Amino acid sequence: MTQKLSAIEEVLMKSKVIVTVGSGGVGKTTSSVAMALIAARLGKKVGLLSIDPAKRLADALGMKLGSELRRIKLKPEIKGTLDAAMLDQKAVFDEMVTRFAPNKGIAEKIFQNSIYIEVSSNLGGPLEYMALAKLESMLRTGGYDLIVLDTPPDSHALDFLARPNILAGFIETGVMSWMIKPFHLAQKLGAGAIFKAGGKIMGGISSITGMKMLKMLAEFLVLMEEVIIGFNRVGREVSQALKADTTGFVLVTAPYNNAVRSAHHLLKELKANNYPLLALIMNRNLPFALQKSIARYPAVAGAVEPALKPGFEILANRQRYAASLAEQLVSEARQSAGKDVHLLLLEEQGQMIHSEETLWTFADALCSARTYGDQTTEA
Ligand SMILES: Nc1ncnc2c1ncn2[C@@H]1O[C@H](COP(=O)(O)OP(=O)(O)OP(=O)(O)O)[C@@H](O)[C@H]1O
Ligand SMILES: [Mg+2]
Repeated sequence: MTQKLSAIEEVLMKSKVIVTVGSGGVGKTTSSVAMALIAARLGKKVGLLSIDPAKRLADALGMKLGSELRRIKLKPEIKGTLDAAMLDQKAVFDEMVTRFAPNKGIAEKIFQNSIYIEVSSNLGGPLEYMALAKLESMLRTGGYDLIVLDTPPDSHALDFLARPNILAGFIETGVMSWMIKPFHLAQKLGAGAIFKAGGKIMGGISSITGMKMLKMLAEFLVLMEEVIIGFNRVGREVSQALKADTTGFVLVTAPYNNAVRSAHHLLKELKANNYPLLALIMNRNLPFALQKSIARYPAVAGAVEPALKPGFEILANRQRYAASLAEQLVSEARQSAGKDVHLLLLEEQGQMIHSEETLWTFADALCSARTYGDQTTEA
């Protein structure tokens, strides 16, 4: 006898790519890992791209941070497989350079270039881009049934999704070639000469940092030209993949003002870009048993120890507020994405979700999650 699939399992069964979005700390990475585990349990060959996960979470899955995909060892009863990469920015940047630089010598020079060292580890934003690049390589070579893509905290993930070939714009508008051309010429003529001449003309100013900086930037741009053209192609391909019918989004939020405000914003962005919302997860709710006690509180207030009363009142207010946030969110989601979109409610757990066992507990909770509205009808 086959069991009826849960809401999240149905979403996972019909998708090839799922992108998890939401504001910082709401549980995107945890939900992404949990969805990947559930899909593997459904027998799928799953790829998971996780971004800057907590080190303990990576440890729980036996992962090292880096761009390499590794097979995760799962419980023997799991029929599918899970390959995961837990990205950190520099690792992926390096991989792209290795892939697209015309030869090893240029790749090495890029790695040693001070601007590259600075940019590859500290520039915000490219992490999203890099994740998309990695997604493209997984789509191209991985043979996965489903890929789950986590997005970084407080990201402008959707900006990147909307125009993943942002670097292409640089080239198309000629900005890059305008910047690169003179330096190409300089290289052809024997690089040093021109800079030295420049130095003389400017009365030896080349010794000051500004000029040195310019020279370094020039070298960097010349070295990066091929790599940027490669980025551009990947951007176009991933952009197409994201438009596929089998790609969808899962929005994660929590019952706090900021998180819900950000969720409203993301809902608008998804709609504006025609990206389908498959599920809405509101994580970190007060434990359901506690919510029941709070609901009963007014009737039994007389019997409650006086010192505990303020605590109950605070929790009751918090719960009312959380319910109103949930209501607004679900009504907007249904307006923009259709009436089938449910808000799946998950409890705040008493423990950190940093072991394989607690990840499975979270995954099971996601499968049996009640949808918004259920909890108010419970006795
Ligand atoms: N329902 C929950 N109960 C208890 N702890 C949770 C729950 N959901 C997530 N956490 C914990 O909260 C922390 C943040 O979760 P997670 O890393 O998944 O969030 P995130 O949205 O990916 O954060 P970031 O935006 O920083 O990437 C983790 O330590 C995780 O174990
Ligand atoms: Mg995260």
